[in-house]
Parts: sequence; C-alpha cells; structure tokens
Amino acid sequence: MSLLDVRDMRVYYKTKKGIAQAVDGVSFSVEPGQSLGLVGESGCGKSTMVNGIIRVMAKNAFIPSGEVLFDGQDLTLLPEKEMRNVRWRDLSLIPQAAMDSLNPVYPVEDAFTEVLTLKGNMTKKEAHARTVELFTMVGLDPDRLGNFPHEYSGGMKQRAAIALALALEPRLVIADEPVTALDVIVQRQVLNELKRLRSELNLALIMITHDISVVAETCDNIVVMYAGKVVEKGSTQEVLENPLHPYTMGLENAFPDPRQQDKELISIEGSPPDLVNPPSGCRFAPRCPFAMERCLAEEPPYEEVDEEHQHGAACFRLSETLKLQKLAKEVETWQPA
Ligand SMILES: Nc1ncnc2c1ncn2[C@@H]1O[C@H](COP(=O)(O)OP(=O)(O)OP(=O)(O)O)[C@@H](O)[C@H]1O
Ligand code: SF4
Ligand SMILES: [Mg+2]
Repeated sequence: MSLLDVRDMRVYYKTKKGIAQAVDGVSFSVEPGQSLGLVGESGCGKSTMVNGIIRVMAKNAFIPSGEVLFDGQDLTLLPEKEMRNVRWRDLSLIPQAAMDSLNPVYPVEDAFTEVLTLKGNMTKKEAHARTVELFTMVGLDPDRLGNFPHEYSGGMKQRAAIALALALEPRLVIADEPVTALDVIVQRQVLNELKRLRSELNLALIMITHDISVVAETCDNIVVMYAGKVVEKGSTQEVLENPLHPYTMGLENAFPDPRQQDKELISIEGSPPDLVNPPSGCRFAPRCPFAMERCLAEEPPYEEVDEEHQHGAACFRLSETLKLQKLAKEVETWQPA
C-alpha cells in the first residue's frame, strides 16, 4: 500500500465569476521514503492541491470529489478534529512563503513549543530539549532560539520552517517552494539539508518547485501539472530524458541545463487558461504546437506507456513521441503561427 494515494482529486474555488476548477481530477501516489517533485507554471494548481491534501484551504475552496488515502485512510472524510491530529504527526506542510509564516511578535522557539506541547503532548522542558535537537539537526545555532523572526536571515527562517515541519517526525513532508525565495548558495545548503534529513529519517517528500533542475537533483519521481490536471508523471530520469507530453517538452526547453552550456532557452508562448471557463478538450491545446482538431473537442485520457517507470501522459499523440521530441527542440515550433 502506498503511503499517500491521491485519487481523482478535485479542489474548486467559489469566485464572483463562477467556480474555478483549480485542481480537476488529479491522481498520483507516494511510497514510504520516496520523494516526488511537483512542477508546472504559476497558477497551475500546485499549492491548491497540497493545501487540499492537508486540508489547510482558503475559505472559498472546497473538495467536490476525490480521495486522499494516507496509509489507506481517506483524509477528505476525516472530521476537522481528527485531521488536526494527523497534521504535524503524520504529515506536515512547509507552506509557500513559510519564512513569513512565523509569528513576528513571538520568539521563534514559541512556535516549536506550541506544536510540541499541544500536538506532541510534551512538557515544556521536553519541548525545549527537542527544539534544541531540531535546531542542531537543520544547522541552526540553538543560541538563536529566543530571537524574533525578523532577527533571522531568509535562509535561517527557511531552516526553522523545515525543523518545525519535522518536529513530530511525520512520515511525509510537503514542501511548497522551499527554496525559491533564497539566494543560490543558501538554496543549495537548504536542499542538501533536506536530502540528508530525508535519508536519515526515511522521510517521504513532496516538493513543489518551478525549477526542474531542483527536481532532477532531489526527487525520485515527477508529476507535471497544467491548468489543474496531471499531464505527465513518472520516474524523474524517464520524464526528463524522454518527455511524452508537449507541455513537459516546452517546460524543459525553458530551463538551463548544466550539462548543455550552449542550450538555447525557448519559452512557451501565451499563458495558462481561465479555470472558471477552461477550454474544452485538452487544456493545453491553445498553446500546443502539435494540437489537432480532436484536441479541441475531446479531453485526452491519461495513459501509462512504461509500466516499469510508471511513466505516462495525457496526450492524443503519444504514438508519435520521438517525432514530437525532435520538433519540440526547434525554436520555430514554438513561434506563434
Ligand atoms: N482563494 C482563491 N480563490 C480563487 N481562486 C484562487 C484562490 N487561490 C488560488 N486561486 C486560483 O487557483 C489557481 C491555482 O492557484 P495555485 O496557487 O494553486 O497555483 P500554483 O501552481 O501554486 O502557482 P504558484 O506557482 O504561483 O505558486 C490559479 O488560477 C489561482 O488564481
Ligand atoms: S492532446 Fe493535443 S493539444 Fe493536448 S498536448 Fe497532446 S497534441 Fe497537444
Ligand atoms: Mg503555489
């Protein structure tokens, strides 16, 4: 049994314009100790999905259907009171902009004391000892426990957010853009720290990032999202070396590759669709250089093409992958007609 098994999950927002289908039928799983990278452009539903998994959602968000099985138990059915017990202890979230989520008027240690005493049933003394241990584990000086958040650098706050997520030794940590706001050197330190902790604690990780090279270094598997849907998933190596979906091919074109210094970066024209009135058929069709008439009318089903690497995609042209991969490397292919 998978540690986390998300099945056909939907998370919608009520808005003045109507219902925004921000996450619309997403399925993927995470095994114990595995790391999964979640990628896709801004607004494709990454945060909405992980916030829905852990049920820390905006007031206007709701889950119309789908299952989130954690150890076989469907979290979408848990009453909030029971869900509170699952958060922190079984799975925890390092939210997007976690660095700003520490309460500015309290010393940093207070956030740890609260989680460890209220959720972990520790005494204040035990909580203090555990906080010192956690600080040391993520490379922070325990002498800084009494400082206020504004006295920490960005990298220190991010390490503190990671330490807090690990406080009760959950089996799954979800990190929403954990290094995006940090400079490159600190990014590397924080990523290495996460990697080390993951292997030491046999921690499963879902990491959201805009940066494909971060996934390449950190994650066993990838899920690529576009406009609220999973368009491709599989082992990291397979997805990056043998992308099946034109959107994944486009994303890869837009990122520098350290192994290919002279690579020309090509961006995908246009922007993701309005999720209140998404296009019928394939949601990527308005931007896809390979769209056919059928793509505008019918939604492509997700198909697995490589069982060993659990690699598949949702595109009508999977039988022509090699041809499309070749064309996708050419600048002209992505120029508007
Ligand atoms: N509270 C809300 N009410 C209405 N729509 C929302 C709300 N929060 C997010 N959205 C919309 O839902 C869609 C998905 O947003 P989400 O924040 O999940 O994307 P994301 O992939 O995490 O983007 P980013 O990479 O910028 O963090 C976007 O179209 C966004 O505008
Ligand atoms: S289904 Fe059609 S429009 Fe969608 S990605 Fe595949 S070729 Fe492009
Ligand atoms: Mg986000």
